[in-house]
Parts: sequence; structure tokens; C-alpha cells
Amino acid sequence: MTSEQTMPVAVVTGAAGGIGLASATRLAEDGFHVWMFDLSAERVNAAAAALIERGLSVSSAGIDLRDEAAVKEAIKALPRLDVLVNNAGIFDVIEFDDLTAADLRRMTEVNYIPVFTVSQAAARRMPEDGRIINIASRSWLGARSIAHYAGSKAAVVGLTRAMALDLAPKRILVNAIAPGVIETAILDAWDEDARVALAARQPIGRLGQPEDIAAVVGFLADPRTGFITGQTLIVDGGASVGTLGGA
Ligand SMILES: NC(=O)c1ccc[n+]([C@@H]2O[C@H](COP(=O)([O-])OP(=O)(O)OC[C@H]3O[C@@H](n4cnc5c(N)ncnc54)[C@H](O)[C@@H]3O)[C@@H](O)[C@H]2O)c1
Repeated sequence: MTSEQTMPVAVVTGAAGGIGLASATRLAEDGFHVWMFDLSAERVNAAAAALIERGLSVSSAGIDLRDEAAVKEAIKALPRLDVLVNNAGIFDVIEFDDLTAADLRRMTEVNYIPVFTVSQAAARRMPEDGRIINIASRSWLGARSIAHYAGSKAAVVGLTRAMALDLAPKRILVNAIAPGVIETAILDAWDEDARVALAARQPIGRLGQPEDIAAVVGFLADPRTGFITGQTLIVDGGASVGTLGGA
């Protein structure tokens, strides 16, 4: 019997870098065999090879989550599945007046619809106490110049709450994490001035790191946190509580 058959199995989407890679690392350190999926087979295979080098138990595969048939096949092929982290996402900054319906569709097709398709395929084979963890965004509360992105993440929060109820009879727990500004490649969408301004606005005086989010993924995947479902945990260094100074 391979270790993958005896260990609990987690899937992390968008695991080639940033929050996904940190989450995959954390879950592997916590004793899961982690399947790392990403659009870029080359990057995710390289990331997985580095973790295997460290003695962690992971596998990797290139997959475009917009391809429903590929998603179903990939989830069905797993030996078992205990935890799913829907992390893959895209981001860009577009002023409201320049936005088009195509921008909203593009965001929805990556940031929202796969959260449903992967979760449905996963839930059909998860045991009791399975976990689904969706990476939303604090921008769900409202944010300037990213209405297309914020809307897709608000949809993820709504879907999280609905799935929590639909899957409660199967004892599958569904929660979301809403990160604030986390230092990953996604921030390249902001120019340097905007990034400096973002950092200055953070109440605890720094940007978040991918590990700050991975720690919460580990918490929500832990068998000891079995009574939390339908929640969206904001992890943003306090930015959603209020900005510094002023009224
Ligand atoms: N970094 C932040 O400040 C921040 C804040 C809030 C929420 N988030 C969310 O966190 C998640 C991870 O983002 P990140 O900051 O680590 O950025 P990232 O760009 O490093 O990671 C996103 C990953 O998703 C993958 N991906 C994109 N489209 C895909 C597709 N169609 N199929 C499969 N994989 C695909 C990318 O290849 C990439 O590796 C995203 O959902 C993002 O919206 C990030």
C-alpha cells in the first residue's frame, strides 16, 4: 500500500506559487498527501519537486479549471479526498468606466465557477468530516477599481454559505478565507506606487505573507476544528476593521 492510500489526501488548486503553494506546504507538513493542481504544469511540477526534495508527500498535475471534464476526471482519479482548497484565481485592476461584461465573465470563469465544479466533484466522494476551504478576498466587502474581481469573490462567499448548508447532511464543512493584501505575484497587477500605498494602509504595518493564509487553511483543515461551517474568516491584518487615523 502506498503512503498516499493511508494518509489523508488534500487537493490545492492554483498551487504553483503564492498562497496555494504555501497552503500545499502547510498541509503536507501537517500529514496530508497533497495533490497540487495548477494551470501551469511546468511551474506546479517544479514546486512539487522542491517539496518532495524536502521529504514531503505531494503529487502535481497541470489542469485548467475552466475545463469541466478535466476537473471531473482529475478528482475521480484520486485514491481518496479529505480536504479541498479552492485557491486558484486571477486578478487585474480596471477602472469602472473601462470595465466590460467580458471582464466579469473572465473573472467568473476562473474565480467562481470552478469553486462550484471542483467542490461538487469532491463532495461526491468525501468522507464525513471532509473539508472545503475557499479562498475568497477581503475585496468582497467592497474595493475600488476591481469591481469585476470583487464581484467574483462575493459570489464565492455566497456559494460558501450555500454549500455549507447543502453539504451539512453529509457532514462536509465548507468555509472561506478572505485574505487582505498578501505579497504574491498577483500584486504585480498594481504599480509600485500603489503597492507602497497599500502597505502603508495596513493597520499592523506590513503586508500579509502567503504563510499567514496557509496557517488558517491548516486550522480549517484540522480534524479538531470540526464545528465551524459557512464562515468567511477575514485575514487582513485588521484592514477591514478600519484605516489608521481620521474619522
Ligand atoms: N495576494 C493577494 O493579495 C490576495 C488577496 C485576496 C485573495 N487572494 C486570492 O488568493 C488566491 C491565490 O492568489 P495568489 O495571490 O497566491 O496569486 P498567484 O497568482 O500566485 O496564484 C494563483 C494561481 O492560480 C493559478 N491559476 C490561474 N488560473 C487558473 C486556471 N484556469 N486553472 C488552474 N489554475 C489557475 C495560477 O497559475 C497561479 O499559480 C486567488 O484566488 C486570489 O484571488 C489573493
